[in-house]
Amino acid sequence: MNGFPQNPNYTGLNTPQGDEYDLAGLAVTGTIPPEVEGSFFRAVPNPAFAPFTDDGAAVLSADGMISAIRFAGGAASIAMRYVGTARHKAEVAAGHALFGKYRNPYTDKPEVKGVDRTVANTTPVWHAGRLLMAKEDGRPYRVDPQTLETLGSYDFGGALKSETMTAHVRIDPDTGEMFFYGYEADGLASRQVAYGIVDGAGNLKREQWFEAPYCAMMHDFTITENYALFPIYPTTCDLDRLKAGGDHWVHHPKLESWLGVMPRYGDVREMRWFKGPRGVSCYHMMNAHEDAGGLIHFDQCLSDSNAFPFIREASGITLQPWELNGRLARWTVDPKGVSDDIVETVIGPPGDFPLIPAAKQGRPYDHGWMLTMNPERQGPPVMGGPVGAMFDMLIRLDFTGAPPQALGLAPGMCYNEPVHVPASKAGHDGWLITVVDRQSGPDDFAHECWIIDAGNLAAGPVARVEIPKRLRPQVHGWWVPAAQIAH
Ligand SMILES: [Fe+2]
Repeated sequence: MNGFPQNPNYTGLNTPQGDEYDLAGLAVTGTIPPEVEGSFFRAVPNPAFAPFTDDGAAVLSADGMISAIRFAGGAASIAMRYVGTARHKAEVAAGHALFGKYRNPYTDKPEVKGVDRTVANTTPVWHAGRLLMAKEDGRPYRVDPQTLETLGSYDFGGALKSETMTAHVRIDPDTGEMFFYGYEADGLASRQVAYGIVDGAGNLKREQWFEAPYCAMMHDFTITENYALFPIYPTTCDLDRLKAGGDHWVHHPKLESWLGVMPRYGDVREMRWFKGPRGVSCYHMMNAHEDAGGLIHFDQCLSDSNAFPFIREASGITLQPWELNGRLARWTVDPKGVSDDIVETVIGPPGDFPLIPAAKQGRPYDHGWMLTMNPERQGPPVMGGPVGAMFDMLIRLDFTGAPPQALGLAPGMCYNEPVHVPASKAGHDGWLITVVDRQSGPDDFAHECWIIDAGNLAAGPVARVEIPKRLRPQVHGWWVPAAQIAH
C-alpha cells in the first residue's frame, strides 16, 4: 500500500489501514449484556504515508487514529478517524511524509521545523467530559467523543506549562481528580518532569516540576491515596545522539532504576528516591496501594531489559524475548522508614496490559487482569505490535489466594488490550471488552470484538461482534458509559 517498506513494521498485522469509516449494525453472536452501554474508545496507530527514513521504532510514531466501538440497546457499531494533529495535517497537505524518525526532529524535512510532532496515538483519556488522545512526546489532542472530529491540541485552557503529557494518567475514584506527569517537559533529552493535578471539573489546579535522576522513558506512573510514585528505568535519551540522527532511546543494563515517592498533594521537594535494581524495564503498572502498616506496594509488569526489540538492538543488547525474565513484580517501600531499599516480590507471570477496576485505583485490591502468552500454544504467536509478538492469553489474577483464571486463544489468534466495564450487581466482576485478531494467511486477518464475563474467563465470550474491516493493532483503550457522553 502506497509504497510502504516490506518489513515487519508495515506487513502482516502491522499493514497500514488508513480507511476512515462509520459502520452501524455490526453482526453480533451471543448477547451483549445490558450494562455494556457506551463507547469503547481505542487508540490505533496507522501511518498515513510511507516513511523516507529507516526507523526501527517506526511502529511507535505512526499517525494516531481514534476508534469507537459503540454499544447501544444490544447493537454495536464502529467508527474510525485520524486524529487531526498538526503533523498529520502537514503531511496530508504535502501528500507525503515530512517527519523523520521517532522523536527525532533533526531527521525531519526542513519545511516542518517547529511543527508539533506528536502523533497522539497511545491512549484515549476520558476525564471531566473531555476525550483526549494522548502520547507522551507532546500535549494531547482533544477529540469530540461523538463525531470523533479533532478539536485541537489541548493545554487545559492555557494552564499547562509542560510541553508533554503522559498517555498514562491516574484518576482517583473518590475525588475524581486526574493525576498526570510529563517528562522531557521543557525539551528533548531534558531531565525536567512536570507533575500535575486536574480537579474533577477538568481544571488544572497544580503543576510542579522536578528533576529526574536522568532523562528516562517514563511511560507510566501510579498513585496511592496519599502518594504519587514515579518509576525511572534506565532507557535514556541523549541530545547529541539525536543531533547525529540517532535513536531517541538506548537501554543501559548497568544503570540503576529508581522509584520516586512523594506525598501526592505535597511539594516536589519532598520527593524521596528509592533505589531499584540495575537494568530493569517496565511499560505498565497494574496498581499501587498503601497497606495498614503504611508500606507502599507498587505492582508492575517488569522485565530484566527493555521489552522492545528495536531498543535492545539500538543498545547492543542481544537478549532474546525468552531471556527477559518478565514478571508481575511488587516493589515494596517504606515511605516513613530509614531504608532507601526496594523489596521485590513476584506476584504474577510475564505479560503486559494490566487492568483493574477503576474503583480500586490507588487502593488495596484483590484481583486484576492482564495479557500473557499461552504457555501451551502449539506454534508461533501472531506477529505484530511494538514487541513483535502479540499476546494470546487473558488471565485474571486473584491476590487473596484463589487460583488464576485464563482464556487462551487458538493458534493464529491474539488479543488487543481489554477495557473493564463494571457490573451494577454487587459481587459480579463486570465485563472485559477486547478486540481479537485471527490470522488465516500471511496477510489475511479477521477481527472481532469480544465481551467476556470478567469473573468467568474460561466460559469464553458472551458476545462476539464482527468487525467487517481490517484492523491494525490497538495500543490502549478507554471505556466511557453512554450516560457520560452528552447528547
Ligand atoms: Fe502504554
